[in-house]
Amino acid sequence: MPDTLIICPTTDRMDARLRDGFDPIFLRDLDDPVAWLAAHGAGIHYVLTDGHLGVPADILVALPALALISSYGVGYDAIDTGAATERGIPVTHTPGVLDAEVATSALLLCLTCWRGFEGAMEHARSGRWTNGSYRLTRSADNRRVGILGLGRIGKAFVRKLAPFDADILYHGRSKQDVPHRYYTALTDMARDCDTLVSFAPGGAATHHLINAEVMAALGPDGTLINVGRGSVVDEGALITALQTGTLGAAGLDVFEHEPHIPDALRALPNAVLSPHVGSATVETRRAMGDLAIDNLVAARDGAPLLTPVPESAALL
Ligand code: DGY
Repeated sequence: MPDTLIICPTTDRMDARLRDGFDPIFLRDLDDPVAWLAAHGAGIHYVLTDGHLGVPADILVALPALALISSYGVGYDAIDTGAATERGIPVTHTPGVLDAEVATSALLLCLTCWRGFEGAMEHARSGRWTNGSYRLTRSADNRRVGILGLGRIGKAFVRKLAPFDADILYHGRSKQDVPHRYYTALTDMARDCDTLVSFAPGGAATHHLINAEVMAALGPDGTLINVGRGSVVDEGALITALQTGTLGAAGLDVFEHEPHIPDALRALPNAVLSPHVGSATVETRRAMGDLAIDNLVAARDGAPLLTPVPESAALL
């Protein structure tokens, strides 16, 4: 009988490991999930999901014997950790193994925006070069970069940015023991930097933290980069700011209503867009998948969980 419910997309390697150590059932294979869960939900002990799909409330109640929610990803804003904790169900995620990859994605978006490389490549490919040179862009060197969310990924980004001699500023809940200037107010930091890079996680505490006021403070020469969660940026205000030139440019890997990107945002030449691929390499997804399944194995074997979320600490 199936003991593990798989909610998120998985790789072949993950499927092989799941079939090896568990009896998995894939939500995507169920014609009538509600009927299946009513009949078999009591046999499910483990759930594998991700930070976007979470575990919908109607599924959670249909799993009375659930012993672990393992999330394939570092962000877990879609998982109701409060409801899980109340039921005594720990949640795990995959921190650490994707820091360098997401940091690289942030750097790629910065460089693409500063140097106008998307437009430059299109200028060459389209043949428009014969009508004139491409516009001058901005240097990637000596920038003032403000970081929202200087955690593990933010710090990996700072290391990768080092050869470009940027001045680093940061804003977050608390001052850290780092050699960068700390701002208690995000708007003040936005006013002082030319590029604001957000690694902030999703959830109620960060919803629309980057609003019209912050974008105006960043200004017409400013660039906003977001590789954390789309909900952190007021997307409507962002479109207006980019359309009117209140904000210079944006490089976005995450969006408010993924996978949907508003037509108005897709039409903007000063927006560089990627489809939430921050951690999406073969190497990093392999490490994330392994860690997510190692957590399931630990739960199955009664061993300590490898990477529980902080909210689960009281249960361990
Ligand atoms: C994460 O791990 O949270 C990344 O955003 C990939 O979903």
